[in-house]
Amino acid sequence: MKNLFIKNFGCQMNLYDAGRILALLQKSHGLTQVSTPEMADLVIFNTCHIREKAEEKLFSELGRVRKLVRRRADGGRVVFAVGGCVGQAEGEEIFRRAPYVDLVFGPQNYHELPMMLDQLAGGHDKIFAANATATDKFDHLPQTGQSGPVASVTIQEGCNRFCSYCVVPHTRGQEWSRPVADVLEEIAVCLANGAVEIQLLGQNVTSYGALDESGTANDLALLIRRVALLDSCKRIRFVTSHPADMTDDLVDIFSEIPQLCPCVHLPIQSGSDAILQAMERGHNVDHYRTWANKLRRAHPDMTLASDFIVGFPGETEDDFNQTMALIEEIRFDHAYSFVFSPRPGTRAATMEPQIPLEMGRQRLARLQEKLNQVQLENNRQQVGKREEILVEKRSRMGQGLMSGRTRGNRWVNFPATDERIGQWVEVEIIEGLPNSLKGRL
Ligand code: SAH
Ligand code: SF4
Ligand code: F3S
Repeated sequence: MKNLFIKNFGCQMNLYDAGRILALLQKSHGLTQVSTPEMADLVIFNTCHIREKAEEKLFSELGRVRKLVRRRADGGRVVFAVGGCVGQAEGEEIFRRAPYVDLVFGPQNYHELPMMLDQLAGGHDKIFAANATATDKFDHLPQTGQSGPVASVTIQEGCNRFCSYCVVPHTRGQEWSRPVADVLEEIAVCLANGAVEIQLLGQNVTSYGALDESGTANDLALLIRRVALLDSCKRIRFVTSHPADMTDDLVDIFSEIPQLCPCVHLPIQSGSDAILQAMERGHNVDHYRTWANKLRRAHPDMTLASDFIVGFPGETEDDFNQTMALIEEIRFDHAYSFVFSPRPGTRAATMEPQIPLEMGRQRLARLQEKLNQVQLENNRQQVGKREEILVEKRSRMGQGLMSGRTRGNRWVNFPATDERIGQWVEVEIIEGLPNSLKGRL
């Protein structure tokens, strides 16, 4: 077995996991990453369960690779594996729907992949490993193989909040924070490999809590203070935050720590208290407003991002209009928005009345129009500013453009060449679009 194809779906935590899986299998089995499943001896889908669409993507991908079921040149079979959150949630059901899948594993079991591959090679037929409560995977992984200017490091996994619509507590398991020393060690390796920006990841980073070497409990604010002390760390960000976990200390560090970028992803989901209550979010609109205002006061360039769900069971036109009014009020700089998707095993899936999908879609279109309009206005106000940008990659817009982010997490596209990747440049903003800025060096 030589070649690995890994396709990732879902959130940044899954992307991080995919990187760790790659580094693990490079070390254990000498595998090399290839860019198409046709070239691979091992095909891994690292999946997402958050909405029905995400899950459908897996099964359509599985349908597509079915024709690749074959013997390899060395006589073994091509191995098909499904990992991540669908692996955890659907388990052995996946073998039934796609009988050529050999291996199903959950997000807390991927460190066992080398052993599972050996078992398959030794004649085992199907292997299923999904233990959502495991918390020791990081102890069994080789050091990160991340390179590049921006490195992401998972500091916290899982969730205990059980919002009524959400599968994450079921797929990722109980909330768990990595020990401070582990986190700092991994970040130090990333910095040594050339990273200058560190993103701290977690389903709920604001609930981070772990002991350091001296036995002192660190929360997120304290951890960020420690990261800021590391040489050559120029930017720090963290995602995702939960409004119910916000603290004054976490707000204060934005004016205290120069490396901490003034951007917070703080999802509110809905602007209606009745809906937030049915979602069991643990906060109301006024609570959110208080923290949004504190954050904006803490730093003049603070940007706020949110997630929204429309068409939640029982959402009336009035509830929806409250969400629209909230967008006008808070003037979010960025947002992800979704039509409610009833998920198996969640309470909201059986709440009444369910909102017809078509109505949900119409509300989503209206919501996104409003979000775009507000973002466009915000972005147009950036025109004329000079921003320090870390050049990250070629722009998706093509046309000889490169992309990087401002400290406030706004994407900027500007004419430049590939050699600039990893460099700091000063860019003048010349145009504001709904989801990005245009600039020139
Ligand atoms: N921990 C984060 C969000 C993780 S999931 C938080 O609490 O904010 C990412 C986003 O997916 C959520 O913020 C929510 O907007 C959306 N989402 C989750 N479950 C969903 C569902 N059943 N239907 C539609 N959107 C959903
Ligand atoms: Fe899901 Fe709620 Fe946990 Fe976020 S806080 S991951 S939405 S259960
Ligand atoms: Fe999806 Fe799992 Fe992330 S359900 S959003 S991949 S935590």
